[in-house]
Amino acid sequence: MMENSGVRFPANHQLRAGMVGVGMIFDETYRPFLEAVHRQPFFHSAYGSCQVALAGIASRTGKRAEAYQQVAREKVTPFAVLKEPNAIDQLLDVGVDFVCIATPDNRHFSAARAALAAGKHVLIEKPSVLSLQELDQLVELAQREKVLAKIVYHKLLDPDHKKLQTFVADGELCHVNNGYCNLLEPKAISGGQFSEWIEGRNPGTYVAVHYIKLIDFTFGGRLKTVSCTGQRGLVGAHDGPTWDSIQLRLIYEYESGREAAFDIHTSWVTPDNFPGWVEQEVQFRFDNGVWNGHSRRRGVECTIEGKTPLDIKITINNHYSGSFLEPWGERSHRGYGVEAIGRFAHEVAMVEYGGDEGEREARLDEIRQLDYNELAADRQVVAAIQAMEAILARRAEGLEDCIVRINDEQGGLVLHTPGSAEAEVLYGPTV
Ligand SMILES: NC(=O)c1ccc[n+]([C@@H]2O[C@H](COP(=O)([O-])OP(=O)(O)OC[C@H]3O[C@@H](n4cnc5c(N)ncnc54)[C@H](O)[C@@H]3O)[C@@H](O)[C@H]2O)c1
Repeated sequence: MMENSGVRFPANHQLRAGMVGVGMIFDETYRPFLEAVHRQPFFHSAYGSCQVALAGIASRTGKRAEAYQQVAREKVTPFAVLKEPNAIDQLLDVGVDFVCIATPDNRHFSAARAALAAGKHVLIEKPSVLSLQELDQLVELAQREKVLAKIVYHKLLDPDHKKLQTFVADGELCHVNNGYCNLLEPKAISGGQFSEWIEGRNPGTYVAVHYIKLIDFTFGGRLKTVSCTGQRGLVGAHDGPTWDSIQLRLIYEYESGREAAFDIHTSWVTPDNFPGWVEQEVQFRFDNGVWNGHSRRRGVECTIEGKTPLDIKITINNHYSGSFLEPWGERSHRGYGVEAIGRFAHEVAMVEYGGDEGEREARLDEIRQLDYNELAADRQVVAAIQAMEAILARRAEGLEDCIVRINDEQGGLVLHTPGSAEAEVLYGPTV
């Protein structure tokens, strides 16, 4: 039985977790998971009980990690705070079994590469990486080091999306023809929380990726083309590289030879007092049906004088991450965002403790087959993001209406500019 520093329920296994980046998503998902599992380990008949100890947090300045250290006493095991430079190397020296990467999008790759090269399991926030070249390197490292490389796509764990997947898998909804998805974030995100790293960025990479994955995972098929446009002028110059809103279009082809088109609209300049806060809507049209989902209309509407809509949201998403007083008197913080982190910890526990050591590789292979969060299965999603970013970069340089074709005769990801016979190969191998 393991040593148990102040933990009330002794567990037969322990995993040491390392965190890189400690921003909003840490507070909403990792922190509630770590605090809950500190109070009570998780269980499975394959390995018994498993405790997760937060071993260290690597962050740029260490300020938020130190602030958490002050309030975290008793809530998690004592942990180290590691600051730049070389924060990730210091974290690896502390001794961890898995590393969670929640830095800004364009800083996922280097941290993930360092952790995988050191033989640690890795969980990366979406969007996993920004190019197929980076994805190839990470997948190769994970295979070489015999560890998991997984991504957090918590929207796939949203019960509404699970129901959509169930209807599609069971053939209740037949052949998707087209659809749209919207995700609108408030100005507080672009102007406050992300203002430090927003230069040259766009809201599509950050949030459209949720829906690219939902479409890719739920409907399958082969991604054929990516096109997009957007608007500028609020968070940056009207002709600069920083975008206010993005409209992305994906065309897929299915085994039947039939096609589908999906439009994904994202923004981070919605007024802060818009009641939806993070406004999310999807509609998919099938041969025999229509699926309409709306995160705001599915839930409650609450007004509290002096509090809503800024301190407390009018339309609260109680499904993703929320704190509750349970009917039996306990305080909890739960939701599908937290569940996604717990599920990854369970997958690591299955690999490490789910049977005989001699069968570890078989277990690793089995967990790698789970496409919903597997980095190796993220190829079409990363292709869509890489294509979108390339189109937006060309647009900022003055080239309009570019389109990217996937797996055409010239390469895996090929950018075509109207009026030019020359195509640019963004990624050579087959996607
Ligand atoms: N799964 C989801 O739905 C979801 C939701 C929100 C954010 N995210 C993703 O999580 C990531 C973080 O988002 P956030 O909202 O927490 O951002 P944030 O800006 O609130 O926090 C980012 C954190 O990373 C730290 N950081 C920056 N550079 C670093 C470096 N080089 N090394 C270590 N730490 C560094 C910053 O100091 C900050 O603490 C992003 O990739 C984002 O796309 C995912």
